[in-house]
Amino acid sequence: MPDVVRFPDSFLWGAATSAHQIEGSVRADGAAASIWDRFSHTPGSTTNGDTGDVACDHYRRSAQDVGLMRDLGLNAYRFSVAWARVLPEGRGAVNQAGLGFYDRLVDQLLAAGIQPALTLYHWDLPAALDDQGGWLNREIASWFADYASVMVQALGDRVGMWTTLNEPWVVADGGYLFGKLAPGHRNRFEAPIVSHNLLRAHGAGMQAIRAAGGKQAGLVVNLEPKHPATDRPEDVAATQRADAYMNRQYLDPVFFGQYPEELPDIYGDAWPTFPAADFDLIRQPLDFLGINYYTRSVVRDDPAAWPVRAARVTQPQHAYTLTDWEVYPPALTDVLSWVHSRYGRVPLYVTENGAAFYDAPAAIDGRVDDPLRVHYLREHLRAIQVAMQQGVDVRGYFAWSLLDNFEWSAGYAKRFGLIHVNFITQERTPKASAGFYAEVIRTRGATLSR
Ligand code: BGC
Repeated sequence: MPDVVRFPDSFLWGAATSAHQIEGSVRADGAAASIWDRFSHTPGSTTNGDTGDVACDHYRRSAQDVGLMRDLGLNAYRFSVAWARVLPEGRGAVNQAGLGFYDRLVDQLLAAGIQPALTLYHWDLPAALDDQGGWLNREIASWFADYASVMVQALGDRVGMWTTLNEPWVVADGGYLFGKLAPGHRNRFEAPIVSHNLLRAHGAGMQAIRAAGGKQAGLVVNLEPKHPATDRPEDVAATQRADAYMNRQYLDPVFFGQYPEELPDIYGDAWPTFPAADFDLIRQPLDFLGINYYTRSVVRDDPAAWPVRAARVTQPQHAYTLTDWEVYPPALTDVLSWVHSRYGRVPLYVTENGAAFYDAPAAIDGRVDDPLRVHYLREHLRAIQVAMQQGVDVRGYFAWSLLDNFEWSAGYAKRFGLIHVNFITQERTPKASAGFYAEVIRTRGATLSR
């Protein structure tokens, strides 16, 4: 256990959400459909047929939700913009009413002393752009850059932290390779093209943010350390492949201007040749890197597990969350120091970390006790302290998530919130974990050592 260490006064204490997971009112005030509207309304795509139509009704309750953030003591809030609210066609005419929602939200946050951290793309591509090929179309880099410019011109005077993309790996793997997420494609030839266009859009977006005068700009990736199940050479090689596919596929091009050498082997004949000049666009210096960390995976060689030929080995000695993720806090320390040593001195934020455990659909006597989530948060915050003691430059932490919300294809069945949402009444109830987190914030982490 670390000594009593207080986090620096400048540390950002946040919570994170994303537009489609909380807002609802998906077609209000001139907003157009996204790929998630289409996907969730396709029978068989989500648990119970759940959709984001209402979600947490945050579009109409943002003032109340900002009040809850203030009560928690947050000094930062990470949210995303629904691209199709602002640009219903994905490009071209701006829908001022849609933009107005984010304009008001930013003002509400600032009035509550909370810094807005804005993500431009958290998976809800305008359906109009999907009709033109979406992430498969090389033009998307300029569509995304234009969208970034619109947002920075509107909010750049008040938003200090801009993220281009949330988790490009999930977009490609979930949306285009395995089809569990929108737009639901299952095509091994598409996945590397999508990844590459995501990276190009990221690069063009960074340039656009800076050209429009945006302040800090960066990328958010989800990293999952891969540990070999045994020291057999086959398992060690499988672990390397899994790491290249999930962790280095995006960071190596951004920091080094090239893909990991394992990728052509992983994708086989689906691996394209990319124009060399693309890497100049992709390799834009970052002001910060956001890391979403939930779990690690222990890996063994499995020739049948396409495309990486690696399988996850369950660790029965450890707890698992409802999403079947092993609870393993030490790997958060490891991943932060790995990024620090491999990619250099870029400031880091933990932009998502949290867990789905069973919470009843309604609060009982006004309370929601979630001791497993309290334990999860405590141990992961301690893991960050350890990394910081080792010299890693971690500048903030955003719990996933502020509210129970629409957990993509798992619908409303998986609750990640610090604040419970009764999806029938929309009543909000801070869970015990919210109280715990508020105390950590109030003491700047000193309470973690007790
Ligand atoms: C995503 C969130 C999601 C969370 C839990 C992250 O990959 O950014 O949108 O809800 O994981 O699955």
